[in-house]
Amino acid sequence: TDEPLVLGIETSCDETGVGIVRGHTLLADAIASSVDEHARFGGVVPEVASRAHLEAMVPTIERACETAGVALYDVDAIAVTSGPGLAGALLVGVAAAKSLALSLGKPLYGVNHLAAHVAVDQLEHGPLPEPCLALLVSGGHSSLLRVTDVTSAIDPMGATIDDAAGEAFDKVARLLGLPFPGGPHIDREARSGSSVAIDFPRGLTSRRDLERHRFDFSFSGLKTAVARWVEARERSGEPVPVADVAASFQEAVCDVLVRKSLDAAATEGIEDLLIGGGVAANSRLRAMAEERASALGIRVRVPRPGLCTDNGAMVAALGSSIVSRGLPPSSYSLPADSSLP
Ligand code: KG4
Ligand code: ZN
Repeated sequence: TDEPLVLGIETSCDETGVGIVRGHTLLADAIASSVDEHARFGGVVPEVASRAHLEAMVPTIERACETAGVALYDVDAIAVTSGPGLAGALLVGVAAAKSLALSLGKPLYGVNHLAAHVAVDQLEHGPLPEPCLALLVSGGHSSLLRVTDVTSAIDPMGATIDDAAGEAFDKVARLLGLPFPGGPHIDREARSGSSVAIDFPRGLTSRRDLERHRFDFSFSGLKTAVARWVEARERSGEPVPVADVAASFQEAVCDVLVRKSLDAAATEGIEDLLIGGGVAANSRLRAMAEERASALGIRVRVPRPGLCTDNGAMVAALGSSIVSRGLPPSSYSLPADSSLP
């Protein structure tokens, strides 16, 4: 086959990911996570993450090559997340990618982490329908994007004005005494709770807010509402119904995410909605999006949960699209850019 063999490196947050793809066929997706080291702080500690990337980088590259059954010198191109993310964490991946590319004499491609969250879906569901609308929801970002060309033309339609969706899941989980990262725990608790037990606020959905923030999100008011509700319960001496709070909170987040995504798709005349990022692993979000979209004739694509959270395969997938579209490589002096738009 003459499809390019691309190795992708991801280190923007707490996962050291190395993926290998041939074209859009996934050959390896090796990952090492420092999440357990951050758990007791209730959030990712940048210095701890950077150090963990340093330690995990070479073994993770080796593991990916072993799984894919390829040698490093077979690789045609190296792709790496150059931003956005934690500056020190990004630097480790970028330095590793440059070293590999220079020593192997192969082209280097710096890619945008958010675009990679979109591109990854091609590994599972084939070529991206373009244009499509992408809802990206993770611990660090919540955005609605119009994707005209995943390699070069992605336009933001809306974003969170305060907390990211994943951040809200993590903060509410903490209030409920659930471990970090809280998203999967809320998801699990919610299964035995009632989503209509408590009517939590839907941020930026009032008529007035919609005028200025039609496709934007806000989750900090929701988080505060949950905190107040839980405090009131505790003061009254009654037990906190964790499953009901989790289900009702989750419903409020998913309701707003799905409502605004479908409104944006309809406004743009786009028939394909892609959901990515760690929160896309949420079972209620997936089910609700499917249900409401199909009523409107909109198709929904969500990668499997393991590809939604940060990983190296997503970087390799975007790198592969860039190579096959013949775009120029990055300079070997590629900088890490923590605030890449
Ligand atoms: O994309 P990701 O792995 O890292 C970032 O780029 O932030 O997303 C991590 C976020 C965390 O906030 C985590 O709680 C959330 O995704 N998450 C979930 C679920 N699985 C992970 N949130 C809700 N439901 C889930 N099942
Ligand atoms: Zn991410």
